[in-house]
Amino acid sequence: MSIIDKHAVLEKNATLLLVASLLVVSIGGVVEIAPLFYLENTIEDVEGVRPYSPLELTGRDIYVREGCYVCHSQMIRPMRDEVERYGHYSLAAESMYDHPFQWGSKRTGPDLARVGGRYSDEWHVDHLMNPQSVVPESVMPRYAFLMDNEISPKSTHVDELMATHRFVGVPYSDEQIEAAHVDFISQVDPWGDVYDDADGDALLERYPGAQTRNFDGRPDQPVKEGSEMDTYSWMRELADSWVLLALFVFFLSVVVWVFRPGSRPIHDDTANIPFRHEDKPAGDGGDAPGAQS
Ligand code: HEC
Repeated sequence: MSIIDKHAVLEKNATLLLVASLLVVSIGGVVEIAPLFYLENTIEDVEGVRPYSPLELTGRDIYVREGCYVCHSQMIRPMRDEVERYGHYSLAAESMYDHPFQWGSKRTGPDLARVGGRYSDEWHVDHLMNPQSVVPESVMPRYAFLMDNEISPKSTHVDELMATHRFVGVPYSDEQIEAAHVDFISQVDPWGDVYDDADGDALLERYPGAQTRNFDGRPDQPVKEGSEMDTYSWMRELADSWVLLALFVFFLSVVVWVFRPGSRPIHDDTANIPFRHEDKPAGDGGDAPGAQS
């Protein structure tokens, strides 16, 4: 009996066919899924991939906050048109420290995975301030306000941000987190005192290949303390203080006042508003509500 004949048995018995198909499908499943249970990591290492420096991480947070991903993905798909247009397709390892990652297929604007180094800093400043000034047909919105939003390591809580990223698996060392404020400032102000005092080369040791310079082209405006985040901190301090108790007491007294003795008739009256004209529906004659007829 050849194998073809044996196959006929399978094909003529529905139950047997079902069991056999399940068996075949589960082999595929086991081969694909089982290794994931014992492999620690399925991402292949790629040279030069390291966790973000404090400044890079902060910038990335702005990118996420402003929703740039709504128009720009950061994933070049392995399709020829994309690879020819943007460069090498994205590798999983390149985004292994991204939380959240910004992969996607949204391309209202170009994919930005390989945009680094393609334009000058001035171009980027002009473009972010007013995209139409450099690309007249652009539909990208203006982000000029970013120029006035001063950021500092303190206002962005960058060390806490890094600690949080460590919590979700980014291998920041204690040293990197401790040096976060210094590294942040050194990277934008490599001519400044902070960089000199701290031995700025340490930054490059911690984050090989990090770009250090004044990126927004305003060397006269070194990183300052004070920014939009200060408003937030101010409100938080307020909330942490006795003001919160005062608000709570106020809230409580409003509740007590509402349920004060003797207030029942008012409530009943209010609650009955929808039923007030129950016996007398508005006529067809265009009577305005409340009109005397
Ligand atoms: C409404 C969609 C939209 C949003 C939101 C948006 N962009 Fe764009 N972006 C575009 C379009 C369209 C282009 C292509 C035309 C141009 O260069 O302005 C572009 C181009 C760019 C380029 C140049 C890319 C290249 O290869 O030429 C950069 C860099 C860029 N955007 C950064 C950003 C950043 C950073 C943000 C968030 C702060 C952002 N974009 C938000 C639509 C958008």
